[in-house]
Formats: sequence, C-alpha cells, structure tokens
Amino acid sequence: MRSLVILLVVLAVAFACPSQTGFKIHQKRSIQHQGREDKPLNWLEKGLVYQIYPRSFQDSDGDGVGDLKGIISRLDHFVQLGINVIWISPIFKSPMADFGYDVSDFTDIDPIFGTIQDFTDLTAAAKSKGLKLILDMVPNHSSDEHEWFIKSVNRIDPYTDYYVWLDGDAPGVPPTNWLSVFGGPAWTFNEQRGQWYLHQFVAKQPDLNYRNPLVHEEFKNILRFWLDRGTDGFRVDAVPHLYEDPAFPDELPSGNPNADPDQYDYLIHDQITWNRPETYDVMAEFRQVLQEYEDGDGQHRAMMTEAYVPLENVIQFYGNESFRMADFPFNFALINGISNCLYYCNTTTSRGYPYNGTQLRDTIVEFLDAIPSWVGPQGANWVLGNHDQRRLASRYGEALVDGMIMVQMLLPGTPVTYYGEEISMKDQFISYEDTLDPQGCQMGPDRYEKFSRDPARTPMQWDDTFNAGFSTAAETWLPMGENYPTVNVKLQKENLVSHLNIYRTMVALRQEASVLYGAYDFPIVDADAFTLTRIRTNSTSYIVVLNVGLEGRRFNLSGVTGIPEKAKVVVRSVQATSGETQIGFTINTNDFPVGAQEGLVLSFVAL
Ligand code: GLC
Ligand code: MG
Repeated sequence: MRSLVILLVVLAVAFACPSQTGFKIHQKRSIQHQGREDKPLNWLEKGLVYQIYPRSFQDSDGDGVGDLKGIISRLDHFVQLGINVIWISPIFKSPMADFGYDVSDFTDIDPIFGTIQDFTDLTAAAKSKGLKLILDMVPNHSSDEHEWFIKSVNRIDPYTDYYVWLDGDAPGVPPTNWLSVFGGPAWTFNEQRGQWYLHQFVAKQPDLNYRNPLVHEEFKNILRFWLDRGTDGFRVDAVPHLYEDPAFPDELPSGNPNADPDQYDYLIHDQITWNRPETYDVMAEFRQVLQEYEDGDGQHRAMMTEAYVPLENVIQFYGNESFRMADFPFNFALINGISNCLYYCNTTTSRGYPYNGTQLRDTIVEFLDAIPSWVGPQGANWVLGNHDQRRLASRYGEALVDGMIMVQMLLPGTPVTYYGEEISMKDQFISYEDTLDPQGCQMGPDRYEKFSRDPARTPMQWDDTFNAGFSTAAETWLPMGENYPTVNVKLQKENLVSHLNIYRTMVALRQEASVLYGAYDFPIVDADAFTLTRIRTNSTSYIVVLNVGLEGRRFNLSGVTGIPEKAKVVVRSVQATSGETQIGFTINTNDFPVGAQEGLVLSFVAL
C-alpha cells in the first residue's frame, strides 16, 4: 500500500539540507566492517531473491493472466541471470479482491494459476535448475469466501472465534474508529451473525483472530502442507497486523495534514492495531515448523517477513542468538527512507529521487549497524521495489537505475529484485477506468493515482512482439507497459550495453569472495557522491562509484584504504559515454570521470 502519507518529521529528515562541502573521506567508520568467513553462508545469504507477481509474469493459456505453466516456461530466465531463489506472490485459491492476498483456500492453487499438479511440476522444474522456491503466506486474514469465515458467520465450532467479531456501540455504529489500510472503516457489519468483523484491509479480507490458538495451528499445518510439497520457505505477509489491543480502544488522530479522515494515516496505530509485541511469538512458531523440516533433511528453509515498522521493531524479527527467527525482515529503507518513516510512506519519496549521497550512505549504514553481530552483515537484505511500491525506475529516475543495482548487488546481504527491475521497467499510467487495485478503487477517481499499485504490476516485457510475449490474449488483465517495444528482455539480451547485462554482471560479481565475505566501507560520500568498497586482502576487490548529482565530475580515490593506483572498469551505467572509462579499460584511480547519475564499478586487487 505503501502509499499513505509520510509524516512531517520524515520530510524534515529526507529533505534536510545536505552539507555541500565537497569530498569528504568518511572517517567515522574506519573500514571495517568485516564479513564472516567463519560461518558458511546458506543459499539465501549467498543468493538473490527474485519476486514474481504471478498474474504478470507469463500467461500460458491465453486468458491474459499469468500462470504456473507460464512461470515454468520462463525458468531459464533465472538461470541465465544467475538468480537462485524465486518468491511467488500468492497463488492460492482466491476471489482476487486483493489479487491473491485474499485467500479462500490456503492449500489449493487458484484455477487462474493452474492446479496442484502444475505446482508439483513447477517445484520439480525449479529443483532441476537449482532454483529455490518461496511461497507467500498470508496469515493475517483470509477471504470472506473461505470456509472458515462462512462457518464463523454461522457460529459453527470450532470456527466461531476464528475471526475478530464484536458488537457495535449502537445500531449502525462500529465498535471502534479503526480504519482499513486501504481506506474507510476497518469494520463491516455481518447481518447474518449480527456482529461486526474486523478487516485491516478490504471487507473481503476478514482478519483472523490470533488470540485463538487454533488459528496458529491451522497456519502451521498450512506451512507443513507446502513444505511437504517441496517449498523451500515463505515470505510472510502483513505481519504487523496480526494482533490488536484486546481492550479495543479507539485510535488517536495522527494530525497528519496529508491524510483525509477516511485514510489510514489519519490515525496512529502503533501498538493498537499494528506492531504489537505478540506478533513475534507467531513468527517464532512459524520458524519452529521450518526447523522441523530442516532437522529432518539438513536443508535450510527460509522465512522473510514483511513489516513496514520502525527499524528497532524490524530488527526484532531476527530473533536472538539462541533462536534465529526470520532469515530476514525485508529492509525497505531504500524505498521508504531511513527509519523515521513509520509505515507505508512511499507517497512522497516515490515521486522523485529521495536521497543525496550522504542520505543514501546513512540509510544503508543505519540498517547495517542495526543488525545484531550474531547475525552479521550477510543477514542484511536490500529491497528496491515490490508489488506495493512504485517501480525503481519511476522512483529514482531511469538514469539512476543501473547505479542503484550496482550498489544493491555489492552490499553485504541478499538483494531482492522485483520482476522487471532487471530491464528497468517503469510504472505504466493506468486510467481510473482500468484501475483494479482495491487500494486505488477505494480512493475514487480523484485520489486513486496516489494510491493504486496497478502501475507497478503490468505484465513482464519479454520481447517486442504482441503483448511483449507475455500473452496471446486480445486484452491482458492490466494494460501492457507502453514502452515494451524498446524495453524488453530480448532486446536487452542482444544489446551488450543494457540494464539486463549490467544486472547479470552484477549478480555474478556478488558471488566473488570479496563481495560475500569482504569488508565494506563508504570512503567518499557527499551530497552528489556515493562510494562503496568491498575489499578482501589479496582478492579481486571492488568499488562502486555513484555520482547521484546532475553534473558530471571527476573522482580521486587516492588515500582510500586498499585501493591501488590503477583499477579496471568492470561495469558502468548504460548512458555512460566517456572514452576514458570504457569497460575493460584500466584507469588511474586518482582521476577519472563519472557522468551525471552514473555508476561505475572498478575492480582491483586490494593492497
Ligand atoms: C501485504 C501485501 C499487499 C497486500 C496486503 C494485504 O502488504 O504486500 O499486497 O495488499 O498485505 O494482504
Ligand atoms: Mg493464464
């Protein structure tokens, strides 16, 4: 959703005047954030996660919607790019009120995506290509068409208390003033049961009642069901919404001038309907289930949690030294800014490049510094986009895409790619008439553009043929991105200088020992410059030099620890034209140019 409005304090931080004092050797952190070679990395720490939004990846049966057979037919894409982990947004049975995040049967595949047999085929195909498969689990709510809800409405035990039911204060008056994340009241009256039910998202997504231990058992069995079918792990959806204050108090107004009274950000949710401590206990239970399987065959199972909460709460999802909970909680800092941004606050930042060089460094360092030492930097992760956010190219601007990918891939920790990012797909304008996302629809024609997530969900652009090779349907479920004739996988594979080839090179570099285990530092950072080194003594080491400014400039790396006088250009942004920094050239590290918004990766054997 993520499109709600940013708090003023965030604005203050994100746009505070940077110091313009030119080059500064970053002294505070004298190198040395050492990676850990003592501990073997598991497949997630070593790998890269690619998010597939299944409706938009590949359609195999011509109905205009992507499906499992379609995904199977495209698995070589991952092999070619060096990607080892795919996460698929929900594929379970669903009336699609929230496009799969409203599940009516957690142990079946929706017919639009295929069958359980297709899923089995997908698992086998993925396995044969060395790919790990992560499913998207939605524990906070089900569809109102789920059998549990229908029975709960009818007070059929044990389902009577599977959901959050309350009497209203008076006829027609909901029990509290709570608002749905998508706007409007979070309560809907059910005539049949004569009570209100809670839905933190749309009315067709009733919240499950986590005060009921049976609900926990249901979900643990659902996890087992998919683990038994070869799933390697889960992304856990909307975690901060699992619990509500049992006293059901009203929430206080936030005072946010940008939020209308029906918008989620109008109220303060912390600890009442959101971000409650009990949440962690459920994640611990889920981890225990994964552990059962890990103990069984020695293969790691992964859990990634989705929680747009303050950093200190994000970090708690790692658990503690004697009990690792999530492999990682998603790190949305490169989307939403540093930790002051409390919730889904991309509205402001999404419309332009949110960072200067110093802010970019601080944002990154804040997360790395927050990671407990027993986890280590390899437990970090870097998300540049997802199905709830503006696309990277639309948020940062196309010119910066390559540079941001270079940074993401060279940082310690797991990069998370949203489909289409590898070719720099952009948000597509979608008219109100064509809008499908409940978050957009709920807000009406005047406000939908700020809230709809459809622009970032258009079909994958494979080639320049009809519907970009995504589907043979006359009409696809969302319109195609208009730029597909020029922005597509096929063209970018053929063209040596392309986003896709930069992406592929960067994925490969991430496998280098210096990047997996080496020290990291940010030696030169100022308003317009960002640099990141990955250094391992006597190994091929790297530096990314990113000019986030709007003018070209020259860099001087002499004095930067570990960097010799000469280095080789390995990658540079597609728009780069300088004759001095062509790929493969050896350059003098004390004087070389980097164009506006360009990134450059240099390799050297560390001193
Ligand atoms: C998560 C999902 C989002 C969905 C919501 C409700 O935030 O990422 O797409 O709408 O949960 O399930
Ligand atoms: Mg289809």
